[in-house]
Amino acid sequence: MRYLLTGGAGYIGSHTCVCLLEAGHEIIVIDNLSNSSPVSMERVEKITGKKITFYMGDCCDEEFLDEVFANEQIDAVVHFAGLKSVGESVSIPMRYYRNNLDSTIALCNAMSRHNVKKLVFSSSATVYGANDCVPLREDLPLGVCTNPYGWTKWMNEQILRDLVKADPQWSVVLLRYFNPAGAHESGMIGEDPAGIPNNLMPFICQTAAGIRKELQVFGNDYNTPDGTCIRDYIHVMDLAAGHLKALEYSLAHTGIDTFNLGTGEGYSVYQMIEAFERANHLTLPHRDAPRRAGDSPISYADPSKAHKLLGWKAVHTLDDMCRDAWNWQSQNPTGYPKED
Ligand code: NAD
Ligand code: WQD
Repeated sequence: MRYLLTGGAGYIGSHTCVCLLEAGHEIIVIDNLSNSSPVSMERVEKITGKKITFYMGDCCDEEFLDEVFANEQIDAVVHFAGLKSVGESVSIPMRYYRNNLDSTIALCNAMSRHNVKKLVFSSSATVYGANDCVPLREDLPLGVCTNPYGWTKWMNEQILRDLVKADPQWSVVLLRYFNPAGAHESGMIGEDPAGIPNNLMPFICQTAAGIRKELQVFGNDYNTPDGTCIRDYIHVMDLAAGHLKALEYSLAHTGIDTFNLGTGEGYSVYQMIEAFERANHLTLPHRDAPRRAGDSPISYADPSKAHKLLGWKAVHTLDDMCRDAWNWQSQNPTGYPKED
């Protein structure tokens, strides 16, 4: 098959490229490189020994999208492209609403015009809001989001539900990711955050590398067994494999369906520190700090629907995530180089 990946040069997109290429598919990537490096694409080609067709451009630009769809025969699309920093979305909400909503609308318009109506969308567990009915199931009512980024995912889901209602030829798969972590086992591709990382695993990696002095544990007085927040960390290669299954599902079905991509296991911040130290035989400087605004105490998936309908299950362990994240960090202390 020939799959188009918007945002395919980013963290999850680049790992998904590897997975799809290794499964024998052809890949076309659109990315404006606003939060990624073209080196990730070169590295994917090195890992797989296969070529990617890359278009540098913006998914909000319908004329550009029309050109891509006119040039390429495409069977289905994964829409990763989006801005994802929670804190930044609070300070510049309009940039988030503009980019994350316009890109989906422009993409779907172009897809309709070119009669490509199979779409896998990158949603997030953030749409459950502060709902603490764990494990979180896809049929729970959507929550109240705590930041504009979360609302863009919530709104995108609604836009896509309305699209499918109006045109039943569409097939849309909404994937709600939990907490992606780790890297490809080669250490050649991984998460390369700009500036100070917001997320736990890249912050842990940069602290272990000595780039950050210490990890702050945000809150130790939550109502959880050790007082720190619990999350469902999922290896990025498991997540990538979920996209392969979701694409196959989109080709075989019409309508809209939603799947959690998580492991179903929750780990606390203290457990993450212990696991990272154990897996990598090192000591991580850390100290307890006040709670971070907007954090819910506990979030983990019920992934049984993806298991049943997609035939997908996470197979990597927490130690795998810690080892692979550190392997990437150690080999690429400052992320991707400017030139490769
Ligand atoms: P990322 O920032 O590494 O990748 C997103 C890519 O999209 C980047 O390469 C960026 O340059 C590109 N992009 C952004 N806006 C674009 C536009 N208008 N046109 C073209 N390209 C554009 O992020 P990621 O972690 O790989 O996340 C991928 C998707 O998954 C995002 O939609 C994100 O919101 C979602 N998601 C991520 C997480 C996570 O924790 N990483 C969790 C849940 C959902
Ligand atoms: C995990 C835990 C922190 C950093 C975010 C987005 C969500 C989704 C995934 C895209 C929390 C604690 C963190 C640190 C810490 N992204 N922590 N010290 O908040 O579950 O989810 O990323 O869709 O929308 O909100 O992930 O990695 O930021 O935090 O103690 O320096 O680690 O408080 O308990 P989160 P995270």
